[in-house]
Amino acid sequence: MNQALLILLLGIFYACGNVNSQDSSSDSGKQIYKTYCVACHGANGKLKLNEASDLTLSEMTLQERIKNITEGGSMMPAFGEVISKEQIAAVAVYLDELKESN
Ligand code: HEC
Repeated sequence: MNQALLILLLGIFYACGNVNSQDSSSDSGKQIYKTYCVACHGANGKLKLNEASDLTLSEMTLQERIKNITEGGSMMPAFGEVISKEQIAAVAVYLDELKESN
């Protein structure tokens, strides 16, 4: 591939990235949830795969959730090294929406 084309493609890639980062935090929280959390918790939070908690019944505060997602649990992986603090906060906020929609 010639270099000018490569640079053009990279430019498009970064431009798209910027558009995404301007999403409202709830949209990106949902996106992060779909990417990293549905595997165990399911789209509605109730899947409970691998002994995961039903997130719609969770009584954790926002701070507790952020800590839990960052550090993980006995079976749940820690996301502190996987996604950014902002992403963890966004997905923790999204869990409130998930509760309300159930
Ligand atoms: C590999 C499976 C797995 C994935 C992926 C996963 N979890 Fe969990 N999650 C668990 C399990 C299992 C528990 C039960 C607690 C434990 O592991 O100690 C749990 C518990 C929780 C709790 C605590 C609920 C409560 O009140 O006890 C929250 C909040 C949570 N997960 C959020 C998330 C979020 C947000 C993501 C995505 C960033 C995620 N989880 C991804 C398995 C998973």
